[in-house]
Amino acid sequence: MIKIAPSILSADFSNLGSQVAAVEAGGAEYLHIDVMDGHFVPNITIGPLVVASLRPRSQMVFDTHLMIEEPDRYIPDFIKAGSDLVTVHQEACTHLHRTVSLIREKGAKAGVALNPATPWQSLEYVLPMVDLVLVMSVNPGFGGQKFISAVLPKITELARYRQENGLSYEIQVDGGVNGQTIAQVVQAGADVLVAGAAVFGVPDPQAEVALLRAAAY
Ligand code: DX5
Ligand code: ZN
Repeated sequence: MIKIAPSILSADFSNLGSQVAAVEAGGAEYLHIDVMDGHFVPNITIGPLVVASLRPRSQMVFDTHLMIEEPDRYIPDFIKAGSDLVTVHQEACTHLHRTVSLIREKGAKAGVALNPATPWQSLEYVLPMVDLVLVMSVNPGFGGQKFISAVLPKITELARYRQENGLSYEIQVDGGVNGQTIAQVVQAGADVLVAGAAVFGVPDPQAEVALLRAAAY
């Protein structure tokens, strides 16, 4: 069973509450919250305040993707605001083991993201303590970019490594996932599919969640 994680990056922020309610009614399991700092990526988005104001209005897993430098400084604030899962970038963490430990100590699930150019093998020593690996299929920073199919083998290798080592991390894919690309991503071994423009760029985001799930198989 795959999970769908609509990314609010492409939502209408003047109607954020109702947009979130729509994808929840459509059956989305995770709400993907893209946090950008203008340093790690060339764009600025939202902070813990938005997570806190959405929290009482949704039962979905709040999946917080931190595209920020020095994530340790903000992890406790996001967890306090209601993030269930916090994902940091391997490329932004000098002491990744410490950062993953901090997320878990504060009571959230821990994810690690990999940019398209970063090999999955860089995570080998932390994979036993990680709840999710996020494979970026675009260079992070913006919604609506084109899917980079060169990352497909990375997904398959992470699934194989998980199987061979009896591990249980989820494999999430983020960037350019839509009705045309989702089947190959699921075929490669992904469990959690992020979709921003595909879900919120259409008139009926609620219906789109189910359409995307149907296109996955
Ligand atoms: C990219 C973000 C993604 C993005 C996905 O930097 O991490 O979550 O919103 O958007 P789409 O699905 O439009 O590529
Ligand atoms: Zn994201």
